[in-house]
Amino acid sequence: MTQLTGSTALVTGSTSGIGRAIAETLARLGAHVIVSGRDSSRGDEVVSGIRADGGKADFVSADLSHAAGVHSLAEQATGVTGRVDVLVNNAGIYTFGPTAEATEADFDRMYNVNVKAPYLLVGELAPLMASRGTGAIVNVTTGAAVKGIPTGGLYGSSKAALDLLTKAWAAEFGPSGVRVNGVSPGPTYTPGTEAMGEGAIDSFATGIPASRVGEPHEIASAVAYLASTDASFVHGAVLAVDGGYAVV
Ligand SMILES: NC(=O)c1ccc[n+]([C@@H]2O[C@H](COP(=O)([O-])OP(=O)(O)OC[C@H]3O[C@@H](n4cnc5c(N)ncnc54)[C@H](OP(=O)(O)O)[C@@H]3O)[C@@H](O)[C@H]2O)c1
Repeated sequence: MTQLTGSTALVTGSTSGIGRAIAETLARLGAHVIVSGRDSSRGDEVVSGIRADGGKADFVSADLSHAAGVHSLAEQATGVTGRVDVLVNNAGIYTFGPTAEATEADFDRMYNVNVKAPYLLVGELAPLMASRGTGAIVNVTTGAAVKGIPTGGLYGSSKAALDLLTKAWAAEFGPSGVRVNGVSPGPTYTPGTEAMGEGAIDSFATGIPASRVGEPHEIASAVAYLASTDASFVHGAVLAVDGGYAVV
């Protein structure tokens, strides 16, 4: 795959799971990676691992559940090398449950992190990429955004918004040289899915073509492809990396 040497990549939610694998993969391709999340001890661990492998990384702490946290991340991330060339909107929360049991606070938390934060971050960083005439944005969505899961209305709808934003931003920023795409993972083993309880994530893989749950590095390689110039003619695509989850 084409190297990312010389570029700076901000990966939100890279203290854990899929985001961590994305950060490690982009660093192996030569990008200077900005690792981000709320948990600085997990963030420092990811940064140390990347540096130990000869890569470049820094941690910027951010809470993306409110606008001030998003603004602070945009500002601090840009300050690390002076620019952000690749933005991966990966940070996300997922809870499942009946509509009647979700509180207004649950709704706001989900939409703040999954929709509002990427929206505001792109609003801050994409115009800077556009002014340089180059950049790549990859949104991490989910197969649950295209399926009617009885307990998945809140989560799925938040990511369906991100699917649509992927297309709208491709139309908005593509003509200025900024490619915007998405990756839609299927069920994947991460600390987040582990916390859902024993066997919970495995149940999502029952009957899918791959007959198994995915691993974070399998999602990360698709993100790396879309971030690299190998995908130079790919705009507004949401690539399903889901073991066939969404097609059955
Ligand atoms: N795993 C799956 O099966 C699966 C399937 C489809 C889509 N996805 C999507 O893939 C992405 C990553 O999922 P994962 O399974 O890797 O999750 P995870 O292991 O729970 O990690 C979530 C990441 O998001 C960060 N995050 C959460 N809330 C945040 C906040 N308020 N502010 C800043 N960062 C925050 C966490 O960092 P801190 O804890 O340090 O704040 C962590 O780095 C999510 O967008 C998810 O919807 C996952």
